[in-house]
Amino acid sequence: MSQSTTDLVVRNSSNNEPFSSILNKSMSRRAVMRGGLGAILAVATGGGLAACGSGDDAESSGGNDPAPKLALGFQSLPVSMTDACVVPAGYVAHVLGPWGTPLDDNAAAWDPNGNNTSHDLLHSTGMHHDGMHYFPIDGSSAEGLLAVNHEYIDEVALHPSGPTAPNGKRPAEEARKEINAHGVAILHIRKTSGRWNIVKNSRYNRRFTSATPMSLAGPVRASDWVKTPFSPNGSQVRGTNNNCGNGHTPWGTYLTCEENWAACFKNSAEQPREQKRVGVPSASGRYKWETAAGDPSEVNGEFARFDITPTGADALQDWRNEINGFGYIVEIDPFDPSSIAIKRTAMGRFAHEGCAFGKLEAGKPISFYSGDDSRFEYIYKFVSEAVWDPADLGRSDRLAVGAKYLDKGTLYVARFDADGTGVWLPLVESTIGKEGRTLGAEFGSLDAIIINTRGAADFVGATPMDRPEWTAVHPESGDVYLTLTNNTARNQSTGTNAANPRLNNVNGHIVRWHDEGNQRNFRWDIFVFGSEAQAEAGVNRSGLTALNQFASPDGLGFDSRGIMWIQTDNGIDGGRNNAVARATNDQMLAVIPKALADSSGTGPVVNGDNQGDLRRFFVGPNEAEVTGLAFTPDNKTLFLNIQHPVNWPYTDDATVATPTGTKVRPRSSTVVIQRADGGAIGV
Ligand code: FEO
Ligand code: CA
Ligand code: CA
Ligand code: CA
Repeated sequence: MSQSTTDLVVRNSSNNEPFSSILNKSMSRRAVMRGGLGAILAVATGGGLAACGSGDDAESSGGNDPAPKLALGFQSLPVSMTDACVVPAGYVAHVLGPWGTPLDDNAAAWDPNGNNTSHDLLHSTGMHHDGMHYFPIDGSSAEGLLAVNHEYIDEVALHPSGPTAPNGKRPAEEARKEINAHGVAILHIRKTSGRWNIVKNSRYNRRFTSATPMSLAGPVRASDWVKTPFSPNGSQVRGTNNNCGNGHTPWGTYLTCEENWAACFKNSAEQPREQKRVGVPSASGRYKWETAAGDPSEVNGEFARFDITPTGADALQDWRNEINGFGYIVEIDPFDPSSIAIKRTAMGRFAHEGCAFGKLEAGKPISFYSGDDSRFEYIYKFVSEAVWDPADLGRSDRLAVGAKYLDKGTLYVARFDADGTGVWLPLVESTIGKEGRTLGAEFGSLDAIIINTRGAADFVGATPMDRPEWTAVHPESGDVYLTLTNNTARNQSTGTNAANPRLNNVNGHIVRWHDEGNQRNFRWDIFVFGSEAQAEAGVNRSGLTALNQFASPDGLGFDSRGIMWIQTDNGIDGGRNNAVARATNDQMLAVIPKALADSSGTGPVVNGDNQGDLRRFFVGPNEAEVTGLAFTPDNKTLFLNIQHPVNWPYTDDATVATPTGTKVRPRSSTVVIQRADGGAIGV
C-alpha cells in the first residue's frame, strides 16, 4: 500500500495548457522519438540531443554506430512479490543503517519493541530513507560519508503501539521522537573485508532533524516573510521536513530537498494565496505536533510553531511565518561537522523532489534542475549568476562556494511547446505574465515571488506536468532526464488527444531535454513510457515486456559511466491500483543510452525493437518503494534505499525473505549492493 505523503490534491487552478495536450499535439505533429535513436547515439558519443534535432539522424546513424562503450552484464530479473530484495545472479545485498541504528554511544541500541526515546533517535539513523549521496574521503571507494534523507515516518513502527493522543494532545516525547526521526543523516562508512559498516562515534556522524536550527540564505533571508519569535531578524528556522530526493554539488556538498512540508502545519484562519497554492491543512497538521504545544517541557514554541494560524498582534507574537522557512533546497557540508545547514531560497520554494546540476563548463553559469512533485506542477531550473570556476573544486570553505553559486542567480520555470522546443521563463520582477502585468506588479519583489513560486509560475504560463520527480543529467551530453511518476487526475477536461490517449496516467513516463547555450531555449522528447506488458500498444508505447514493465518512475540517476538507473514508487493512491503494481514489487532498472534501433521513427526511444536493453536490476520487498542511489567512484558499490517495507528486513542479508508467518517491525534501510567477485556494478 502507499504510505506516501505526496499531496494528491490538484492545487494548480491556473489555466495553463496541460503538458498532456502539448505532448499529444507534438506527437501528432512529429515523430515523438524522431531523432531518438540519433539522440541515443549522440549520448554515447558525447554529442548530445543537440545532434539529433533533424529527422535525418535516425537514418544516418543507423549503419555507422560505433561499438558501445558499455554493455549491461546481467540478465533482466523476473517480477517478484516477496518480503525480500532480489538482485541478479552473482550479486550480494546487505542492509546498512536501518532506522534506529545508533551513530554514537549517546543512543541506546534499536529496540525491536519500539521503546527507543527521542534522544536515541537524535543520535541514530532516522526513518524512511530516501535521496542519498556518497562523498568519498580522499577519493576512496572504501571509506566515505553517506548522506541520507529521512523523508517521513511510519508512526506505527516508530512507537511501541503506534501514535497516541490522549485528550487530543500528542505527548511531547512522542512528538519529539517523530521530529527526530525526520531529516538527514550523515554517516561515516567504511568497507572492511568487503563489508560496509557505519563507523560508530566518528566525528562525521551527524543528524539533522525537523528541529535542527538552519540558516536562511538568498532573497528570502531577513525578509518580513520569515521573521518569527525564534528568529526575529529572519535569518534562521528550525528543521528541515520531508526531504525526498536529493542532489549534490560539484564542490562537495549535499543538497536535500524539502517536498511535502506544507502538510506538517495547520492554519485554521483564512489562508493567503501562497498557502492555498501549496495546500496547508486547516484542521490539523499531518502528525498533530502542534497539539503538544503547552507541554511544560516545550522550548521556545517547538510544537506551537506548527500552528501558523495568526493569533497575535504581529509576526513576532505568533508563528504565522514559520512555514515560510520551509520548501527549499538545503545545502549541507558533510565534511564539516560544525557547519550549519543553509536553505538556499533563490532556488525556489515548492515541493522539491531532487536537484541535479547541468554539465559543467568553465566560464559558464551552472544550472540546477528540480521538479515540483504534485499533479500538474512544474519543472524549474536555477541558473547561477556566477560562472563556474574549476578552482572552486578544491576549496575547503564549501558553504562559501555554495553561497557564490546558489544565492544569486535566476529561477526559471519550463514551458514545453508542441513543436518539440521549449522555453525557460524567468521568475523575476520584470517578466510579463497574465494580462500584460509583470511578476513584480502582481507579487512584489523577488522574495515575494519566491515565497509563492507556484503562483508565479502559473502567472507566466508554465506547463503543468504529470508529477515531476527526480532529474538526472547525462555526464557527457548534458541531456537532462526527468521522471514524471503518474497522474491519475488526467482526464478529458485536463487534456488528451488521440495521439497519446493516456488518460488516467497510472504509469508515468520519462521526459528529457537539452538546453541551448542561451539558457532560455531547449529541445525535448519522451525517453520511455511506463506500462504493464499486457497493455495495448497505445498505452505500452515503449513495448515493455514482463522483464522490464514498470510504472511510476521516481528515483533517477546516471552513474559516472553513463548507465541510467530508474527506480519506481508505484504504490499509487493507497494500493496496488495499477497492473504493474499487481504484477511486481517496486524495482530498479538500468539502461545505457546508446544507438538503439528505431526503425519506424515514430516510437519512443525505448521501443518494441530495442526494449531488451532496458533491464530490471533489482526488486524490493513487499509494499516498499526503491529510492535513492549512490555509487562509489570505482562503481563497485551501489547504495540504494528501501523505504516503507511492511515486513522486512529479516537479516543483514537483504535477500533473505522474512519467513511466512513471521512478523518483524519494519525498518526502512540502505541496501549495499556489490558483486560477489568484487567487480563493477551492472556491466
Ligand atoms: Fe517523496 Fe516525490 O516522492
Ligand atoms: Ca514515496
Ligand atoms: Ca520520490
Ligand atoms: Ca514518488
